[in-house]
Amino acid sequence: MSDNIEKAKQHFDALIKQQLERVEKLKAEVDWIDYSKLNPLIIGIIGGDGIGPEISKHAHMILRFLLKDEIEKSGIILRDINGLTIENRAKVNKAVPLEVLEEIKKCHVLLKGPTTTPRKGDKWPNIESANVALRRALDLFANVRPIQIPEKEINWIFFRENTEGTYLLGSKGINVTENLSIDFKVITSQGAHRIIELAFEYAHKNGINKVSVVTKANVVKATDGKFLAIAQQVADKYPDIELDDWYIDIITAKLIDPLRQSKFKIFVAPNLYGDIITDEAAQIQGGVGTAGSANIGKRYAMFEAIHGSAPRMIDEGREKYADPSSLLRAIVMMLEHVGYIDKARKLEKALDICTLYEKKIIITGRSDGATGKEFAEYVINTLKKPSLETLWNFFH
Ligand code: IPM
Ligand code: MG
Repeated sequence: MSDNIEKAKQHFDALIKQQLERVEKLKAEVDWIDYSKLNPLIIGIIGGDGIGPEISKHAHMILRFLLKDEIEKSGIILRDINGLTIENRAKVNKAVPLEVLEEIKKCHVLLKGPTTTPRKGDKWPNIESANVALRRALDLFANVRPIQIPEKEINWIFFRENTEGTYLLGSKGINVTENLSIDFKVITSQGAHRIIELAFEYAHKNGINKVSVVTKANVVKATDGKFLAIAQQVADKYPDIELDDWYIDIITAKLIDPLRQSKFKIFVAPNLYGDIITDEAAQIQGGVGTAGSANIGKRYAMFEAIHGSAPRMIDEGREKYADPSSLLRAIVMMLEHVGYIDKARKLEKALDICTLYEKKIIITGRSDGATGKEFAEYVINTLKKPSLETLWNFFH
């Protein structure tokens, strides 16, 4: 027994040292990359696995259509990044194979299809999630997820901390004895500050006077307590913005409360709480297949669907019915992030028309609905319409 305790102590000791070093790195000020200065801008497209390659194919086609001129003039390069499949990751027993990571790092922004995350008992080795590893490796600290439901006047944007919390050491927990397992949750002042600051800055720039912070600080005292305390510090710098303080359990309920829903605007939360409420929010919007997700860092940014690789759809041979909307919403966020605002708005309007208003083609994920290809063609045809703007205004 004392052997186990000794081993656990050493393990913890090493983790603390690594995290203290990480804090020192976080203290270094890094400037945001300026996309307007890049020529060419390199967009990496990662197909992923499960339904990933299928929906990525459609996303790729639409992106190529939107950026045709820039690609022809070599101002933008669309580059396929292969090898981030579960088979390949399992083979080398790594969340992200090193040579794939090298290729990824040669790009500026990434559009990523879902990747399978194995768990204990799966047919795959229990390697870490590729998402989690990439977010950490590229320091993509902000997971930004917008949700809109016009008829309910819901306009939410979630700022989920994306590198720390229960995720940072999620694969570094210890089984002290057969009966005792311990995981670690990490919040640093610097890590909390940068995401909360981003949320407040967004509120400030968009004239929104409230930021809702989500924790369980009444129970998880050290880490969530720190997150909330930092939120209070940041809020003090923005006297016009109210800090609206919620616990994860009650906010989960209030998101579906018709009397309150539309009052929320901006949320900021540690990693796991953000993970949970953004799936809930996406479901309220119409399903996890409808929401896009941006992983933003100062040097890299990665845009993806909010959902996973849907292995069940593959097993049942339904991949061609998978909805590419979430990845297309991710493209909107990507174009906006790199400064192609007009193109982002154009695609957003086409998507709104196709998925919220006109809905000429419906995807159900099954053979009673349209295929992803049919839907992608519907989007392209809508994009091509000279009357796109008028049509959108008509519905809006
Ligand atoms: C998400 C996903 C990931 C997460 C999984 C795939 C590891 O659920 O992007 O929300 O938990 O962050
Ligand atoms: Mg999730």
